[in-house]
Amino acid sequence: MDYVLRTNHLTKRYGGKTVVNNLHMNIRQGDIYGFLGQNGAGKTTTLRMIMGLIQPTAGEIELFGESLFGRRARAMERIGAIIEYPGFYLNLSAADNLEIHRRLMGMGNKEYIEEVLSIVGLLDARNQKVKHYSLGMKQRLGIARALLHHPELLVLDEPTNGLDPAGIKEIRQLFLDLARQRGITFIISSHLLSEVEQLATRVGIIHHGTLMEEINYDDLQRKTRHYLEIKVDDDKKAAYLLEQKLGLSDYRIAGPGILHLYGSLDQSASVNLALTSHGVGVKEIRLSGDSLDYFLKVTGGVPLG
Ligand SMILES: Nc1ncnc2c1ncn2[C@@H]1O[C@H](COP(=O)(O)OP(=O)(O)OP(=O)(O)O)[C@@H](O)[C@H]1O
Ligand SMILES: [Mg+2]
Repeated sequence: MDYVLRTNHLTKRYGGKTVVNNLHMNIRQGDIYGFLGQNGAGKTTTLRMIMGLIQPTAGEIELFGESLFGRRARAMERIGAIIEYPGFYLNLSAADNLEIHRRLMGMGNKEYIEEVLSIVGLLDARNQKVKHYSLGMKQRLGIARALLHHPELLVLDEPTNGLDPAGIKEIRQLFLDLARQRGITFIISSHLLSEVEQLATRVGIIHHGTLMEEINYDDLQRKTRHYLEIKVDDDKKAAYLLEQKLGLSDYRIAGPGILHLYGSLDQSASVNLALTSHGVGVKEIRLSGDSLDYFLKVTGGVPLG
């Protein structure tokens, strides 16, 4: 599988403080990579290093299979980005803003402006001044601008920040469409797992500058699914009884005397009865697991905003 982006030992220090610590990120072509971390975790710093806006203190970045040294310009042509808030000329229309950007960047093909505006759903609003745009429209305009040069990778720093739930949903759908229809790879940073989990094919969690975990969607789903945690004195016998007496097979033995039962969340009473009536001691049955729990576990239990 081709990697669009890899970082090796990527590190950034400010003064004596390490804000990005020995990062190894692996992003494959077609990934929607949710880059997750709390405020101050090091997301923006990492993305700025990837975009060449600041120099790493140590480590390296590989884009499209090549180390960045000396080849940054070529790699940058294949990337679009929004780092922090996209700035626009507020007194100009959306279309004029994109036209200025197109000329500044020396990109051909003026017709593509209408196409990107249509992709992000702003074609009808293209002649409105940007100062009359809502936050969601500005975000979409930022994405349109990042798309102007047909990037293969989009690097987006908290693109749904400040949007209302409807706006978040719209933007999410836009990313999914761009990924599916145009094969664009995404890195999307966020401080909310709930915001990227419905979209990401892969999630990296950064905490105090350290990448705590990189996980594929399927594994994330498994880890963030709700389940009944059943604590018993005999896990093997309990497993046997779940299967034979209740026909439940979507469980795993999570540790000595601990079973996690998925997809049968309303069955705690019948599970309890089946186990106890066949001589298994049940110490506890409780509903457990969700994405927030999981994120908190990985990041050490500090609540998120
Ligand atoms: N230019 C700088 N000089 C000194 N410290 C910096 C600088 N830029 C960032 N930092 C520090 O690095 C740490 C990581 O900041 P960064 O902006 O990368 O976090 P973040 O994950 O993007 O947070 P947020 O969710 O708030 O955007 C913070 O402690 C920040 O204060
Ligand atoms: Mg940030």
